Amino acid sequence: MAIDIKGPAEIAKMRETCLLAAATLRMAAAEVRPGITTEKLDRICHEYIRDHGAIPAPLNYRGFPKSICTSINDVVCHGIPSAKERLKNGDIVNIDVTTILDGFHGDTSVTVFVGDRVSKVARHVTEVARRSMELGIATVRPGSRIREIGSAIQRYAEGEGCSVVREYCGHGIGRIFHTDPQVPHYAARGPNPRIREGMTFTIEPMINVGTWRTRLMSDGWTVKTADGKLSAQFEHTILVTPTGHDVLTDWNKLKGSRYSN
Ligand code: MF3
Ligand code: CO
Ligand code: CO
Repeated sequence: MAIDIKGPAEIAKMRETCLLAAATLRMAAAEVRPGITTEKLDRICHEYIRDHGAIPAPLNYRGFPKSICTSINDVVCHGIPSAKERLKNGDIVNIDVTTILDGFHGDTSVTVFVGDRVSKVARHVTEVARRSMELGIATVRPGSRIREIGSAIQRYAEGEGCSVVREYCGHGIGRIFHTDPQVPHYAARGPNPRIREGMTFTIEPMINVGTWRTRLMSDGWTVKTADGKLSAQFEHTILVTPTGHDVLTDWNKLKGSRYSN
């Protein structure tokens, strides 16, 4: 399938939805503290997104029951917010927000420390995940190839003693939540399309302390590490520009925007 190239009008809409996703995520991350339930994080994101005229993309997506994903400690991704799940001091939690505004998707996540008792290994895997995302993003420019992203990430993350999840990848995004190109975060075999101006896709490495292998829980969504060790993730939506890339979900873009407060 050909990879969609966005024109100026579509890029303007991608910028808007990504700004809203970033603002939602920043707001939710600021609410993280010991004792809060992941259900509460889900509710405040749902309301914020709806109040800004948008739709939370995960809700009812292939049957997903909530508006965001919340993935704690050994949960790799797609954790389901729950009233029974309370964050505790020392946890790490990934909050993953996807908005649909005027028909276009914006997708972004961060991993946040809960309280002041986060272990050294948890801090390390979180910082490696953040840096992995940044190094992957740094390779993006017209003429480069998709697999450069994963090569850069795998080299770095494994050098830091961590592993890179393989079953879940970044993805093209726009009117469709998950579309081509598939963006592996490791040096994968298979398709290796050339990156072109006007493409939009996510980079969202999941980095593990132990094995890269994962297990799907019986709820059909929650993905955990196979060995029960920690996992961290960061995600941005990226636009390919004439000279390189633009990080559409960058929180720095909120300064001076309608979301500056
Ligand atoms: N936001 C996730 C991603 O980065 C996808 C969540 S799909 C859901 O691609 F159904 F689990 F919400
Ligand atoms: Co995504
Ligand atoms: Co996401």
